[in-house]
Amino acid sequence: MGLVPTMGALHDGHFGLVEEAKRLCDRVCVSIFVNPLQFNNAADFDRYPRDIDADAAALEAMGVAAVFVPGVEDIHPAPIYMHIATSGIVDRQEGAYRPGHFDGVATVVSKLFIAAGRSKVFFGEKDYQQTRVIADLIREFHFPVEMVVVPTVREEDGLAMSSRNRLLTAAARSAAPALYAAFQAGRSRAVQGSATAPVLASMREVIEGRAAEAGAAVTIDYLEAASGEDLRPSDRFEADTRFFVAASYDGVRLIDNVAVFEK
Ligand code: PAF
Repeated sequence: MGLVPTMGALHDGHFGLVEEAKRLCDRVCVSIFVNPLQFNNAADFDRYPRDIDADAAALEAMGVAAVFVPGVEDIHPAPIYMHIATSGIVDRQEGAYRPGHFDGVATVVSKLFIAAGRSKVFFGEKDYQQTRVIADLIREFHFPVEMVVVPTVREEDGLAMSSRNRLLTAAARSAAPALYAAFQAGRSRAVQGSATAPVLASMREVIEGRAAEAGAAVTIDYLEAASGEDLRPSDRFEADTRFFVAASYDGVRLIDNVAVFEK
């Protein structure tokens, strides 16, 4: 079985996961569950997009065997006494900005893995740090699942597909492709062994310049060149260096990442 865990409001990124799961598995199950444990901010949870009818219709048309849409009490019966406490790689990036986020992800994903049993599980590379945390989770808890990481799907203008894109204002939507434009600019300047700081500074200008032009407010939480292995920031470009960004546009927080050098 192939399990594709999602929080719904499905887009072509999710459908890419489903296609890959169909290619590699006999039967595909998609779970749709907006997991309250992984939101460190109640307002963010409340406004997270939900569109279960459209999601179910699209998945049915794709021929998935099952869509699993549990209620909160099904997954996290109250009162909750236990959760998985993550550490290590979660000190950086998303974990640093969203306290408790990865504990919530690891906890819900574990419950979904237990429900699924022996299976292949599919996650998108856009949430790169999440894929690293889940790889550790599978290894440390011996879950009988095999993870498949699927490349990020992008809009034509480079914006990474995300359920949160639906929340962007028009100005923010026109400014946000600068995240990928900045990656491309950074890639064209990066040379193995050379310093990352000046390249990152020019990438920041791309992001802030485009936001100013579009009339969108942008706040960059982090823009880093870091190891694809342990996510430690790199002063110099190395073969496995990736660019990582998290930025809020008019209050909608987006993340993205790419490998700096082609494999
Ligand atoms: O990436 C997501 O959509 C969520 O973090 C996941 C993996 C479905 C867990 O709730």
